[in-house]
Formats: sequence, structure tokens, C-alpha cells
Amino acid sequence: MAGTGVETEQAGWSSRWAFILAAVGAAVGLGNIWRFPTLAGENGGGAFVLFYILCVIFLGLPLVLSEIVIGRHGRKDAAGSVAKVAQDSGVSTNWAILGGIGIIAAFCILSTYSIIAGWVIYYAGVMGADFFGALFSGDPFASALAGEAPEAIGGRMDSLFANVPLLIVMHTLFMGVTIWIVARGVLSGIEKAATYLMPAFFVLLITITAYGAFTGEFARAVSFLFTPDFSRLTPPIMNQALGQALFSMSLSSAALITYGAYVSRETRLPPVAGMIGLADTGVAIVAGLMIFPIVFAAGLDPAAGATLIFRSLPLAFNAMPAGALIGFLFFVLIFFAALTSSISLLEAVTAWAMRRFAWSRHRAALVAGGAIYAVGALCALSLNVLSDVRLLSFWPSFAEADIMNALDGVVGTILLPVAALLTAIFIGWKADRNLVVAETGLEGGLFALWRFLIAWLCPLAVTLILLFGLFPGLL
Ligand code: PFF
Repeated sequence: MAGTGVETEQAGWSSRWAFILAAVGAAVGLGNIWRFPTLAGENGGGAFVLFYILCVIFLGLPLVLSEIVIGRHGRKDAAGSVAKVAQDSGVSTNWAILGGIGIIAAFCILSTYSIIAGWVIYYAGVMGADFFGALFSGDPFASALAGEAPEAIGGRMDSLFANVPLLIVMHTLFMGVTIWIVARGVLSGIEKAATYLMPAFFVLLITITAYGAFTGEFARAVSFLFTPDFSRLTPPIMNQALGQALFSMSLSSAALITYGAYVSRETRLPPVAGMIGLADTGVAIVAGLMIFPIVFAAGLDPAAGATLIFRSLPLAFNAMPAGALIGFLFFVLIFFAALTSSISLLEAVTAWAMRRFAWSRHRAALVAGGAIYAVGALCALSLNVLSDVRLLSFWPSFAEADIMNALDGVVGTILLPVAALLTAIFIGWKADRNLVVAETGLEGGLFALWRFLIAWLCPLAVTLILLFGLFPGLL
């Protein structure tokens, strides 16, 4: 492509904004709307949120810039790009392992992600049916799930979990759409999806938050999210906050490096990295401000865990004016967010398979997506017939985790921090200084600050959080 300097066979983004939308789409997802409120709720709110924000600013942002720099310089999949930067810096190409870990992380994340996105599709369907049913019977402002007893609404999750074929159908739908978009390519698949879905996402987010602010307990939500109780901030929780910051910004999982490979040489990267971080953190906080007023107004437990938005929120929607419509829109919103993220995860694995096996994009997307689909199906079964399987029973932190939670836990608390640590050491110490200066476009004090964060603070903080998070006994 003229002007973009893309040397891979894939086309590059059509513009800087297209890249920003796609990267924000990758960052904003279930992590913001499902995982962040879940973790904040379970871990007492304020202190977790504060530590999370510190991780974003001091560790996440410098890493976002580093990953895009690696991708844009390397112009390949994550492992290939790291190898190229290593080669041009005169250091061992074994550093490509950090891209490899990212690709494995992307693979694992997508297999659990798709199951949760499947729940989202199911709930969008249930709420949608309810809303359109009400609409056609002449009462568009009915509440969701009208006429159902609270136990029945809360129990929907159990019946979904008990229904293996239904879980698999939803998983199939979600992976099917993801594979289809990635197979269409960077321009007519990924970029196009992001340019339609992200604006729609933001409109829905603002609408529902405004609705919650007017009808729910907004002030209580604000104080829950922003009043820190530092006694709750233990090392394992700090580790979770770090893992969540990395996960939410799509770091350490090959996605940003891969998307970076399609960015034009003319684009100035620091403002773009800043925008990605700001949008992602902004959406996580707004999602908290969207969900908790509704949770509190309905007297629900903020620490309900992974099923908070599925089991609890529909109860709240049920009791609200126009709840059917809002509930439907809420799950459509999450679906859009999840899709633009799953695309980036599959693209990370697909780009690698295309290079590694010299496959066409179609074939790579299908095979990579198919393999992820199979592992995802195992996760779906772990909600059900395989719920007693404990893969990591020998490991105290994960002894109780079923297959899906074990995968999620290992990725979030170990793989992502380890890849982040390697990225920081690689860019901070190993990559050629001139190359890094040229790619980041940072100068003077700003460069010194970024380099301090990436070369010193990131490695130190991530190592400490990782060690004490995994072995709290050390303290
Ligand atoms: N950042 C996404 C979210 O918050 O839902 C999840 C994600 C996407 C993680 C892409 C990693 C990734 F490479």
C-alpha cells in the first residue's frame, strides 16, 4: 500500500483514526463492562480502583506505546515483530518468546471470552424477545422479563449453565462471527467492524449511564468506586488489579503489536497510545457508574462476582421503567464491545499462523479460530459436565478453579504480567536506543520519563506484584 510502508501481505489501516477506533475497540470489551465491575465489586471498590488507575498510568501507558512501537517497526505478527526489532538491535531473536507468550495468551483469552460473550448473546436475545413482545402488545415501556418471579430471573443463569447445547450454540455464533470478520481482512473486516460498532457502542454507553444516573443510586455508586479503604488492598488483590489493567488495555497478548504492524510510518504514536489508555480506563469507570447505581438501587450485592451483570442486573431491569428496552440495549452494548475485542485476539493468532505456516488469511483464521473454538467448548463444559475437573489442584491459588477459571486465572495473574515484564526489559534495555527514539517520536524530558517508567518502574513493580501476589506468604 502506497504511503503506509506495510510490508506484510495484509493491507494497513486506511487512516490514523481507523487505527485508533480498532485499537480502542480491542481494548474496550468484556474486561471493562464485565470484569472490571466484577473485580471492583468483589474487592471493595475504591482502593482497588485507585491501584488499578495507578497501574494504567505508570505501567499500562508506557507498555501500550512499547507494543505499538514493536509492531510498527517489525510489521509482522507479534513474535515476528519482536524478532525483527531484536535483529535490528543486534540482540538474540530468542526475545521473540515474549511475542509467543502473547499469542498463547490471546489464544487462551479468546477461548474463555467467547463463552462469556455467548452468555451476553443469550441475554440480549431474552431481553430483546421481551422488549419486542411488549412492543407488539402495545406496551413498549414494560419492564424486562415481565411477569417472572425474581427467583426465576436469577435462575436463568443456572438454566443456561445446565443447557450444554445452548451454551455451545452461543459459543458457535460468537466465534463464527469473529472468524468471518477476521477472514475478511484488516480493511474490509476488522476496520469496518470497528467503524460501525464503536460509535454505536459509545452512544449506548452514554444513554444507559444517563438512565442509571437519573433512576438509580448514583451518589452511592460514586462513593463506592472512589472512596478507598486501603485495608482491602492486599498483594493478591494488587496482582489482580495489575492483571486486569493489562487485560483491559489488551497488553501482553499480542493484539496491540499485531495492530501496530498495520500503522502508517507517519502516525505519531504517543498521542495514540494516550488515547487508547484514556478511552479504555474511561469506559471501565463509566461502566462502573452505569452498573453500580442500578445494583444499589435494586438492593443487590456488588460483590456478586462473575455473574453480577447476568444474574443480578436483569433483576434490576425488571423493576425499572422501560427496563426491557434498557436491558436489551445493555446486552447489545456488551456484545459490540466483546466483538471488537475478540476480533483483535483472533487477528493476533491468525497473523502468526499466516506467517508461520504460509497460510492464506482465510485458512489461518479458520484453523486458529477452530482450535480456539475447541478449547472454548471445553470451558463451556466446565460450567456443566466437567464442573468437577480441577486442572491445577496441586496449586493452592488455583486449586478450586474449574477449567475456565483456571485458564482465566493463569493468564491474568501469570502469563500477562510475565509477558509485560519481558516487554519492558526488551524495550527498556535490549532494543536499539536510536530505533526506539525514532519509533516513539519522544524527545527530551518526555523520552526520559517514558524510558524511566519502562526500564525501571515496570520491571520492578511487575516483579514485586507478581511475586507477592503469587506468594503472599513472602511478606
Ligand atoms: N481488552 C479486552 C477487554 O477489556 O475486554 C480483552 C482483550 C482483548 C485482552 C485483546 C487482550 C487482547 F489482546
